[in-house]
Amino acid sequence: MLYISPQTENYMAVRGQFSNKLGFIMAAAGSAVGLGNIWKFPFEVGQGGGAIFVLMYLIFCFALCFPVMVTEIAIGRKTQRNPVGAFNALGFRNWNIVGKLGILSGVLILSFYNVVAAWAFGYVFEMAVGHFNVGAGFGSAESAYTTDIVKIGIYGIVFMTATAFIVNQGVSKGIEKATKILMPTLIIMILGLVIYSLTLDHSMKGLSFYLKPDFSAIKGKVVYSALGQAFFSLSLGMGALITYGSYVSKKDNILSSAALITLMDVGIAFIAGLMMFPFVAYMSNGTMEGVSGGPGLIFAVLPGVFESLGTIGPVIGAIFFLLLSFAALTSTVSLLEVPVAYAVDEHGVKRKRAVWLVAGLIFIIGIPSMLSGGYSEFFTGFIQYVKAEKATDFLTFVSDTASDTFLPLGGFLITVFAAYAWKRNNLEEELAQGASKYKGSFLSKYISIAITVVCPLILGSIFILTVLSKFFGVQIFA
Ligand code: PHE
Repeated sequence: MLYISPQTENYMAVRGQFSNKLGFIMAAAGSAVGLGNIWKFPFEVGQGGGAIFVLMYLIFCFALCFPVMVTEIAIGRKTQRNPVGAFNALGFRNWNIVGKLGILSGVLILSFYNVVAAWAFGYVFEMAVGHFNVGAGFGSAESAYTTDIVKIGIYGIVFMTATAFIVNQGVSKGIEKATKILMPTLIIMILGLVIYSLTLDHSMKGLSFYLKPDFSAIKGKVVYSALGQAFFSLSLGMGALITYGSYVSKKDNILSSAALITLMDVGIAFIAGLMMFPFVAYMSNGTMEGVSGGPGLIFAVLPGVFESLGTIGPVIGAIFFLLLSFAALTSTVSLLEVPVAYAVDEHGVKRKRAVWLVAGLIFIIGIPSMLSGGYSEFFTGFIQYVKAEKATDFLTFVSDTASDTFLPLGGFLITVFAAYAWKRNNLEEELAQGASKYKGSFLSKYISIAITVVCPLILGSIFILTVLSKFFGVQIFA
């Protein structure tokens, strides 16, 4: 994809566009589907008390996040800019702080995301050689794997380099093609594992944890973690979809594209859960012990499951983590693209230089996260939230700040902007391009109410709840 300054003639034509609607959907779904679905979603469900978290998550995705998603894509397509330039181009310079917050969120998210991607990528080799007890004690100080800083450092450098390489080539070509093949393969593989998981002992215990809500378990934490997870998983609230939206053609239907992206992302997270919880039940002999263990969950549980497959275990395990690494790569690419597009568009940095500079910087910012898996005591027990039982490690702290706090705040500000500064009829005009029946439809009424009332109100309140209860230990409801 080419980057040309906005002054250039034929800006739209030269700046580069996705080859067609499917290309955009694939790239955006590639951004959405990643570690968020397969690593983060299961452990968040585990910590959030199971099915009740899943229910909240589903409601948030469809009722609140979908309107935010179409708004982001519309702003991107309308302005053809990065998240900061987009607000300037619409004539609201004061609002570009929202874009800046988004860029900060993207930088923070990529800094720890790359570390988790490095763990996953390293597992390809661990599985291939049949090293199945890597996960023992994972995330705790005894884990030999996350404390092997040389190994993780090398995998981390490889992963960030691959990301930078692709962003440097341009987002569209390689990613579009590879996603079309590898994503369906990953889905088929997970479905295969779902079937296998249901044949294992205690699988029903796992399923009931995942699917039978216990309404008494709703706490403030469940609500804000589910919202943060919805934003994170859909790549919302930081302008990733403003950036990708800037490459979408005026002929494309934003609404149906966004619907497909949402369904795909939620669908993949959902089946990943269907696979994981019977596995957790099997590995824990039906006690579900360890289900709330946090970020190490899939890394601790899956190796034992692959081991139980016998001789084909190493092959299946290696392929699984390879596909997961690829899904992570299409997400890291979208995360890096945001600050790079900003540096290129707004500060006139040459694209190639911007890519390597930003990637290098983010890698450095990620080093404390890399050390927080047990290697450094200081970063492993980095911060003690008020009234929390135990200290929080640096990686989790960055993730809490960026995904549970900044992303919903970004979503809140984007909807307030669209409704009260840019004005909802302008949004409607943009959405109606490529969707001839949109105006006056039920969906258009819903989106209008969502961005003017529902999203600002609910996202704003949950933001306040998050800050108070997560960082200051104030419990709003039990
Ligand atoms: N949605 C990605 C995932 O689930 C992570 C991501 C967040 C990517 C925000 C871009 C922006 O893995």
